[in-house]
Amino acid sequence: MRLLALETSCDETAAAVVEDGRKLLSSAVASQVDLHAQYGGVFPEMASRQHVLAVYPIVQQALREAHLSLDELDAVAVTRGPGLPGSLVVGVNAAKGLALGSGLPLVGVNHLEGHIYAAWLYRQDPPPAEPRFPILALIVSGGHTELVLIRDHLHYERLGGTLDDAAGEAFDKAARMMGLPYPGGPAIQQAGAEGDPQSFKFPRAWLGDSWNFSFSGLKTAVLRQVQSIKAQRDALPVADLAASFEAAVVEVLVVKTLRAAERFGAASVLVAGGVSANRRLRQEISLRAPLPVHIPPLEFCTDNAAMIAAAGSRRFAAGQRDALDMDVLPTWRLSA
Ligand code: KG4
Ligand code: ZN
Repeated sequence: MRLLALETSCDETAAAVVEDGRKLLSSAVASQVDLHAQYGGVFPEMASRQHVLAVYPIVQQALREAHLSLDELDAVAVTRGPGLPGSLVVGVNAAKGLALGSGLPLVGVNHLEGHIYAAWLYRQDPPPAEPRFPILALIVSGGHTELVLIRDHLHYERLGGTLDDAAGEAFDKAARMMGLPYPGGPAIQQAGAEGDPQSFKFPRAWLGDSWNFSFSGLKTAVLRQVQSIKAQRDALPVADLAASFEAAVVEVLVVKTLRAAERFGAASVLVAGGVSANRRLRQEISLRAPLPVHIPPLEFCTDNAAMIAAAGSRRFAAGQRDALDMDVLPTWRLSA
């Protein structure tokens, strides 16, 4: 079984071909990051228009690199939501055109489910071990921070999520306060590498026994710190600020995820989404977890279409077929 997938939910135009839900045959990503960096964040109107320009060439590239034509595939999967409405429409319409032209079935995929199934992907045989159920998953991206219990394939129990900013959004906003470029996650990681994570005691929001997160207090604390340093006309100690901020975010994510894994008797932990590319997060959770931790390879952490193909393959194998009047779902939640 081979699927072509398209992903255009935010600021990457991506296409990929995956075999049997796990094996990568090709993955092409056209990032718009340079386009949006000048605005300090994603500019939705420009994102949609850039997807229009990039979507067909990126599909051709994915097929060429997989050495396959459409008639050698089994289905076309596409991100249906959540994401920017105008951006989603471009990918969904392109996928419909491909499905209509080729006669292949169309499979709409939830972007967050895609991030989860990135953990099943691999490039070279032999395939790595699959995450064992029940899985406690932490999804951390620019738009989401969710703790999800997965008892079996395609069944999700949402335990909690952020009450304000998503983890990636917090990285992006804190970076901007520190004068670092967009996207903030990689910039903070790089700037903080030489810094002391203990130098600033930023707050951690534990929120009692709940499985929710909050990053607004931390964001305000960073802003106050930056303002008070600037008021004294001192140079910003960016490395120390970045390292201390990163340590505060990572500690809460790791502790709450592992606490939930224990409480719900998880057999493995999965971390996914753009922020799962973070070096400190990957190291800390792997070091502290008493059970196997699965984090996708770096190239599949941030948005890509291979993960949509992986999730779409599970959906396709379970019998899902979507009609050609399928609409986008910009606020689609992950559910069973
Ligand atoms: O999953 P993703 O590519 O797009 C969404 O679905 O939102 O995630 C993008 C987010 C951005 O906020 C970016 O700053 C963050 O992931 N990110 C990171 C790192 N790489 C990307 N955050 C922390 N450390 C990183 N190394
Ligand atoms: Zn994403």
